[in-house]
Amino acid sequence: MREIAHLPSDMAIISSKQPAADAQQPPKEKKKRTPKQSAIPIQLASVDSEILQAEIATTEEKIQEESLRPSSIREYIGQKDLKGVLDIAIQAAKVRQESLDHLLLYGPPGLGKTTMALILASEMGVNCKITAAPALERTRDIYGILMRLEPGDILFIDEIHRLPRVTEEILYPAMEDFRLDITQGQNATAKIRSIALPRFTLVGATTKIGSLTAPLRDRFGLVQKLRFYEVDELTLIVQRTAEILKTAVTPEGAVEIARRSRGTPRIANRLLKRVRDYAQVKGYAHIDGSIASAAMEIYNVDPLGLDWVDRLLLTTMAEQFNGGPVGLDALAASTGEDRHTIEEVYEPYLLQIGYLQRTPRGRVVTAAARKHLGLKGGDDRTEQLSLLE
Ligand code: ADE
Repeated sequence: MREIAHLPSDMAIISSKQPAADAQQPPKEKKKRTPKQSAIPIQLASVDSEILQAEIATTEEKIQEESLRPSSIREYIGQKDLKGVLDIAIQAAKVRQESLDHLLLYGPPGLGKTTMALILASEMGVNCKITAAPALERTRDIYGILMRLEPGDILFIDEIHRLPRVTEEILYPAMEDFRLDITQGQNATAKIRSIALPRFTLVGATTKIGSLTAPLRDRFGLVQKLRFYEVDELTLIVQRTAEILKTAVTPEGAVEIARRSRGTPRIANRLLKRVRDYAQVKGYAHIDGSIASAAMEIYNVDPLGLDWVDRLLLTTMAEQFNGGPVGLDALAASTGEDRHTIEEVYEPYLLQIGYLQRTPRGRVVTAAARKHLGLKGGDDRTEQLSLLE
């Protein structure tokens, strides 16, 4: 049976924009740059930058994503190492007629962690129940989910680093011994009742592996990282999605979109839809390289997928801080961006493409970034600083 069942809507895929359950993890602040004087350009700018933010996905977009998801490992493009590891785990579990080991997937948003959990369920012929840490605030939330598990089920918990401590502690015996310990009563009179659970597989997903507690991390048999996709992999993803959406895209058009997608399928598919709108309105029968470029210029997405905030961050570092090193707080204060947004949304991709480096003294802009932005001067400070380390 290859059925994939979801929990009722109150537990089903939950937006990453939900408020944090954990006081240590404040919800991301909305952009602060909203001075009233120039409403139109500011509004456009913030719309533009959201196109490239993989962690922002509306419920509607997540529902649309469902129809674009690959449903087998064979169909899944990219993440070769991860697929290799999971393929072996699946085959071994099937031969032994066991459930899969608990799996922790980590990496930037939009790279396909949920998709991979659904594929695992499909390949194993079991159900996948999807939830996210912010929906597990109360102990009864996690009790309810665990008690409804069936043998072999995959339980996917997104943003697992945000689980409240009490929920996390309920998971320990559940993961280790497939046992649910329910505390009845309080204080001295409290009793623990244990219920046997069927063997199941917990798939946890996180963008912040460093925020996971050691006891939770240690209970996963497999810990796997998802990496940013290469342009050729994203090109194939764009072509696959275009086929599903019945949109004609030339190979050059697909490459143009892939190059601007920040290594992230969610962004690639989002850009494809925007470019498709543009082509339709302008009356083009298919999307070629120049149509894709023209469309993305409108959205202020540059040829490497940088938006105005990326450019602002790099330019500020280059011009106001002489290339760096600059601390995160100073950069946040100078640009008006939230420090968590800089660190979690913008930096990972700028680090990946080698436009920014982290040194013990702070962030440094690289010569490649200066060249891309057409900024003069500045030596490659990273080289000089690494000599000093
Ligand atoms: N759509 C989104 N991500 C994908 C992937 N990795 N492979 C195929 N199609 C996708």
